[in-house]
Amino acid sequence: MIYLDNAATSFPKPECVCREMDRCMREYCANPGRSGHPLSLKAGAAVMASREAICSLFNICDPMRLVFTKNATEALNIAIKGTAFSGCHVITTSMEHNSVMRPLRALERDIGIEVTVVRGNELGEIDPDDIRKEIKKNTVLIISTLSSNVNGIVMPIKELGYIASQSDLAFLVDASQGAGSMAIDVEELNISMMAFPGHKGLLGPQGTGCLYVSNGIPIKTLMEGGTGSNSDSHYQPDFLPDMLESGTLNTPGIVGLGTGASYIATAGAGKIAAQKHRLVKILIEGFSQIPGVNLYSVSDINRNSGIVAINLRDLDSGELSYILDKEYGIYTRAGFHCSPGAHKTLGTEKTGVVRFSPSLFNKVSEMIYTLDALEKISWKTI
Ligand SMILES: Cc1ncc(COP(=O)(O)O)c(C=O)c1O
Repeated sequence: MIYLDNAATSFPKPECVCREMDRCMREYCANPGRSGHPLSLKAGAAVMASREAICSLFNICDPMRLVFTKNATEALNIAIKGTAFSGCHVITTSMEHNSVMRPLRALERDIGIEVTVVRGNELGEIDPDDIRKEIKKNTVLIISTLSSNVNGIVMPIKELGYIASQSDLAFLVDASQGAGSMAIDVEELNISMMAFPGHKGLLGPQGTGCLYVSNGIPIKTLMEGGTGSNSDSHYQPDFLPDMLESGTLNTPGIVGLGTGASYIATAGAGKIAAQKHRLVKILIEGFSQIPGVNLYSVSDINRNSGIVAINLRDLDSGELSYILDKEYGIYTRAGFHCSPGAHKTLGTEKTGVVRFSPSLFNKVSEMIYTLDALEKISWKTI
């Protein structure tokens, strides 16, 4: 089996992640932050250590501003619904995932926010000036994905952060594709909020995600409940992370995520990116030699977070993915990748694409095998 679906969720996870989750379940999985006994304190300390490990990857100075969620979708919903209000204007890009677009469209319908979607070029690249031109008096928020989950194209985050900071707007980044391998410094990039899953590039388990909220961003809760703090009050605490972390945390998951973050820190995000790009480059250069392949991704390391999107002639993307799986044991994702706007931008709204997303654990020989498989399928489908 060759797993090339890491953009959906990373697999395999490092052994240390599995081991620490197992140890947590067996040795210290009490409720963190709720009780004063040693096991609860130990669980609380482990959650805090995970917060710190994740924050240090992104230069988040105050770990209390990192909120644990169950995935990137929850983090994005908290960020969007917690900061947008009736009559406000939000600018975003045509390359967003539905976990950005659906909350925006729901708010547009339900409370009358205004949404402007700036379209990318044929690769999905956004011109920062096109965002700047859309800023109006009631604009409060700019939202951009760090890189597209369909073809990996990287967005001009630095320029967008600068534009947002110059206009005193909040800037929300969906770092679902790229967190863990791309260099992200929330201070340098003027990022006010950043949402990301724990289960993709951060090598943690499913059921984990994070939202970073910088100081000075007025944010409301989506959900209230027990936090283990201010427990004598009927009112939700107004401080982070408690304000946005109601209910018992996913302690084993968070510990696994923190271990994944430490693994990345030790391996070096830059080295991970280089390894992924080595593989992506082999795939892209190889695919471009195979008759009938339509390629939607670029091999430039600075412009691709690690995804290769293709179609083969007019073969249905689901069928190609199925053949790769059943005849060659290569696992990809096909169809529409929860990003209708991105498919429209790339011109694949009718066909979808087959997405290959290697991780640092894939080997060069697996890429060669994949190219060989695609070449054979190509000749068979002429
Ligand atoms: C760009 C992007 N944003 C958001 C998400 C949602 O992530 P999650 O499934 O963790 O909620 C994904 C998942 O594929 C994604 O690729």
